[in-house]
Amino acid sequence: MAKTTNVTAGDLNYDKYANEIYDDDIRRSIPGHDNLHKELINTVREYSKDHEMMKILELGIGTGLTSETILEVVPTASLKAVDFSKQMMDGAKKRLAKFKVDYLLGDYSEMNFDTDFDMVVSVIGIHHQKDEGKRLLFKKILDSLKAGGVFIFGDLVTYKNKYKAAVNDARHYHHLVENARDEKSLEEWAHHHKFLNVLAPIENQITWLKEVGFSSVEVRYEYLNTALIIAKK
Ligand SMILES: C[S@@+](CC[C@H](N)C(=O)[O-])C[C@H]1O[C@@H](n2cnc3c(N)ncnc32)[C@H](O)[C@@H]1O
Repeated sequence: MAKTTNVTAGDLNYDKYANEIYDDDIRRSIPGHDNLHKELINTVREYSKDHEMMKILELGIGTGLTSETILEVVPTASLKAVDFSKQMMDGAKKRLAKFKVDYLLGDYSEMNFDTDFDMVVSVIGIHHQKDEGKRLLFKKILDSLKAGGVFIFGDLVTYKNKYKAAVNDARHYHHLVENARDEKSLEEWAHHHKFLNVLAPIENQITWLKEVGFSSVEVRYEYLNTALIIAKK
């Protein structure tokens, strides 16, 4: 399977990042990170009502912040967790020690997924896929879900309308300047957002999700250029 990711884990500098600093930085740098997770919990509660033993796939687990939020709600679930950064995954292993987690180190764009998941989750983990990579991944995610399964997708997005896109971009950088811990982390995050992220308009991503076959696609949370999309198989 051809790699469609625009970076390696090394490019993201995560291998040198101390986990505690990362946890603080992701909350500071992503507008609405905490509120997005509150909405995500509501969705997990809704979907886990009839599933005691849910099988979940998470793409880009990072240090396990999102995973912990989910597993606190459904502690009996089994989680398959993918990340291509060993440093990040080591942080997740420590954080999630009490849960049932199977770790896969590697680039998810080059992997085949199992096909029996109740839920696929990715939060701030897909914006290094180019457009075609996103489309291919959405199809792979659809195929990995059981009938009635759900894809919970939170990420940075942009907009088709160039004025709205520009304003959201400006507000995002303003947010970074206001919230950076220090000059070094501002430099790191501004570089990441300007040169490494590949944001696609939310309208296009909704269209691609529908085109690959998701039966319903709903935006549950939107703040500046952060969005939470719920796509049902
Ligand atoms: C920014 S973190 C977010 C983690 C968590 N959801 C949060 O909000 O704190 C996303 C993770 O995705 C991983 N990642 C990005 N692209 C990936 C890919 N193609 N394959 C595997 N992991 C990837 C990065 O290494 C990073 O650890």
